Amino acid sequence: MEVTLEISRFDPNKDATPHSQTFKVNVEETNTVLDALLLAWQQDPSLSFRRSCRSSICGSCACRINGTPRLACQTLIRKATEDGSRIVLEPLPHFTQLKDLVVNLEPFFESLKATVPWLIVQEGYEGHMDPEVVRKLEGPATCILCGICEAPMDVTGKNDAAAWVKTMRLALDSRDALGKHRMQLLRVPREVLKLFIMGLPDRCPKGIKIWEEVIA
Ligand code: SF4
Ligand code: FES
Repeated sequence: MEVTLEISRFDPNKDATPHSQTFKVNVEETNTVLDALLLAWQQDPSLSFRRSCRSSICGSCACRINGTPRLACQTLIRKATEDGSRIVLEPLPHFTQLKDLVVNLEPFFESLKATVPWLIVQEGYEGHMDPEVVRKLEGPATCILCGICEAPMDVTGKNDAAAWVKTMRLALDSRDALGKHRMQLLRVPREVLKLFIMGLPDRCPKGIKIWEEVIA
């Protein structure tokens, strides 16, 4: 089947503002949006986008697909649009567009670093964890730092939503010396975090669920 891709193009060396370029590619019904993007890239190798694993585990192919932030390698063409014939691809919102679909992730990782995103094992910890706690950590531990959950959370500007996920995961970890004190590092109102937690499983490509007790 033939699919029309409308891709946001922006080259800071040539363009004052982004514009869109249309590509027509022939794909199988079972192909993903990333497959279609790779075909467009064969037509114009100056097209820039990120991808690596093609298995929804590196997070690099996140972009806006027909207006919704998604992973291009996880999104089937037939799911991306009603009739599968036209797909608009834009960079993730709330990030600076560097070139085409490539955004600047530096502030995102700086914000993550600022929340001390590693386990600080408590003194005297003996190596055992309650299976119930482990079950609660499993979901947030699968975060692939794709940045997709940033999109609807233009609220504080202090740190990015992926840093919230990491902080809440560590705050629930019974081995961590900081534990719930980590929540103070975020300086995000409880109501905002609650709304974020409620909407996350539907937005996140990994379906991550955070247990609300962390903000109680
Ligand atoms: S929580 Fe989900 S959407 Fe947000 S960065 Fe992690 S994997 Fe991506
Ligand atoms: S290419 Fe790795 S998540 Fe899509």
